[in-house]
Amino acid sequence: MEKTFLMVKPDGVQRNLIGEIVHRFESKGFQLVGAKLMKVSQELAEKHYGEHKDKPFFGELVSFITSGPVFAMVWQGENVIAQARQMMGATNPADATPGSIRGDFAVQVSQNIIHGSDSPESAEREIALFFDESDLISYEKIVNKWV
Ligand code: TYD
Ligand code: MG
Repeated sequence: MEKTFLMVKPDGVQRNLIGEIVHRFESKGFQLVGAKLMKVSQELAEKHYGEHKDKPFFGELVSFITSGPVFAMVWQGENVIAQARQMMGATNPADATPGSIRGDFAVQVSQNIIHGSDSPESAEREIALFFDESDLISYEKIVNKWV
């Protein structure tokens, strides 16, 4: 089953949006298979955002993502990588559709609440950067047998 790496950024944590964001992906029907509240080190931030190292916003981006706790997650489900990107909305919240996470909660591109992998290759790379294989728990939903 496909997996993606999602992260509530420091602005989302500060604004008490962890629950709201988890709720959206749970309600959609995806499965949370790993999660942790953590501080991102300078080294991890530079690796995670390595593709942007020559961009003018790189320094600000790394200092923002290391500025406070983030909530790192792995979600699983059919087509979850592309679906999660849709649910997040455009990178620049000014272009993000209302109803998307960035469209509903963010104003500035530099503080856009959430990160999500943009391809199967980046999902694999980012999951491995933030989680050990043993941190991830895949399980069968048995609730339907109870109710
Ligand atoms: P990017 O990977 O292009 O966007 P996304 O998060 O949607 O995959 O950029 C990474 C982050 O860099 C983005 O979420 C916010 C920040 N950023 C800026 O601060 N300024 C910019 O002009 C861009 C394009 C991104
Ligand atoms: Mg990106």
